[in-house]
Amino acid sequence: MPTEAWWRDAVIYQIYPRSFADSDGDGMGDLPGITARLPELRRLGVDAIWLSPFYPSPQHDAGYDVADYRGVDPRFGSLGDADKLIDTAHELGLRVIVDLVPNHTSSEHAWFRAALAAGPGSPERQRYIFRDGAEPPNSWQSVFGGPAWERLPDGQWYLHLFDASQPDLNWDHPEVRAEFLDILRFWLDRGVDGFRVDVAHGLIKDADLTDWTAPSVVLGGLEPAGPPPPMWDQEGVHEIYRQWRSVLDEYPGGRILVAEAWVQPEERLARYVRPDEMHQAFNFPYLEAPWAATELREIIDSSLAANDEVGATTTWVLSNHDVVRHASRLGFPPGEGRRPGIGIGDPQPDAGLGLRRARAATLLMLALPGSAYLYQGEELGLPEHTGLPDEVRQDPAWERSGHVERGRDGCRVPIPWEADAPSFGFGPADASWLPQPAVWAEYALDRQVGVPGSTYELYRSALRTRRTHELGSGELVWLATDPGALAFRNGDVVVVTNFGDEPVALPGGAQILLSSEPLDAGGLVPTDVTVWAML
Ligand code: NOJ
Repeated sequence: MPTEAWWRDAVIYQIYPRSFADSDGDGMGDLPGITARLPELRRLGVDAIWLSPFYPSPQHDAGYDVADYRGVDPRFGSLGDADKLIDTAHELGLRVIVDLVPNHTSSEHAWFRAALAAGPGSPERQRYIFRDGAEPPNSWQSVFGGPAWERLPDGQWYLHLFDASQPDLNWDHPEVRAEFLDILRFWLDRGVDGFRVDVAHGLIKDADLTDWTAPSVVLGGLEPAGPPPPMWDQEGVHEIYRQWRSVLDEYPGGRILVAEAWVQPEERLARYVRPDEMHQAFNFPYLEAPWAATELREIIDSSLAANDEVGATTTWVLSNHDVVRHASRLGFPPGEGRRPGIGIGDPQPDAGLGLRRARAATLLMLALPGSAYLYQGEELGLPEHTGLPDEVRQDPAWERSGHVERGRDGCRVPIPWEADAPSFGFGPADASWLPQPAVWAEYALDRQVGVPGSTYELYRSALRTRRTHELGSGELVWLATDPGALAFRNGDVVVVTNFGDEPVALPGGAQILLSSEPLDAGGLVPTDVTVWAML
């Protein structure tokens, strides 16, 4: 793969800075903590990291409420620390993608403060979406619950598709467009390899702010297929990304844009990755697919076809900081456990079943052609923390939904590195911004390194084998198999996943390369197992 197109088959590891590694013992992860642990990611074998936001922020939405797009929050370090992180990653051969949050700013951003101070009718208010009226301007609901409009004491309303502390920007305003072009350059000049674009489908709203009465879809969910709702996936967003793309193309080395767009069907999503727009889009239809052969095959086919149509690479993802970790999600009966948030008193996943399926799901994903995203901790087989006390919850969705949605804290708990250290080695102190469950000692990295059959070693072997056999840049050819299973060839590797109740056979003469669990005594692939073999 030429360096410029490194991303087409890359495995990209998401770091959630609050919860990856804490260098100073305050219980909150930080950039120096990440930098110190980068060699571990090199050893794991990923190609790039994506960092969730580390910018100055009041942290009402864990940093997705940005107060200054050109800085680093003191909780996470300094700009110098960001430079050091980028340089160290590059020395290790890892690319660095940062998060860009263009749909909304924090209410503490200088622009919003100025808008509040300047009052109704002022040019400062034009950069956001303010409206007059005795009633909310329309029926839109916030993704986190409750109305999407907040009223100020002066009588005006402002739009916030997320928390009230996240006012939506007015992307029809030339200053907004110019500002983000400048922010792109700021980070490109510092050497970042790309941007993950938050809420990429939300920047442009239907001009009439048409009412939308369908119940709002919780975060980490796809709108039902049909005409796009007036706040999502409007035609005007594409012009913005074409302009951004032309800026990125001025820089050498293959800088990329990745869309976080909860859009379906795949043909709509593929419009974000047309040749002059973004490079990748997260494949959320794949993440949302049930653990079932027929549905997964359909989604794999439609994803590959839709991306091929526009010449883009297909991406695959199973976990991130907005959804229940797949080691827990797959431990529920079909259709359950997919909403963000599980708490004490809720139905609990079957941890053993979830981990078994998660390992099989990951092995299937890493054999698919294209680029794959991993979320920190999944290489340890980490489950969701499903027993967080409600008092410690910080996700704004918990309060805004009137305690209906427990929110996303359970997938954001600081990860375990060392079983016997304070905070499981997350930091030097026994401090962690969300409590870690005691059972996580068993998942700590130091319990798994060098242990045959551990989830960590499975990921490491899979990443190595994927590279050696060039699976990311290969081509998928389906093979006939049992109806409860999927089998395909990618280059010289045959992949079989068994979703059914009965064990299935591998093609004759196949030599096992990797297996998510041992095969049964007869050499058959048991239920909920993926095997990679060579013919
Ligand atoms: C998507 C991010 O992944 C999520 O964490 C955040 O709450 C929303 N966008 C709003 O920025």
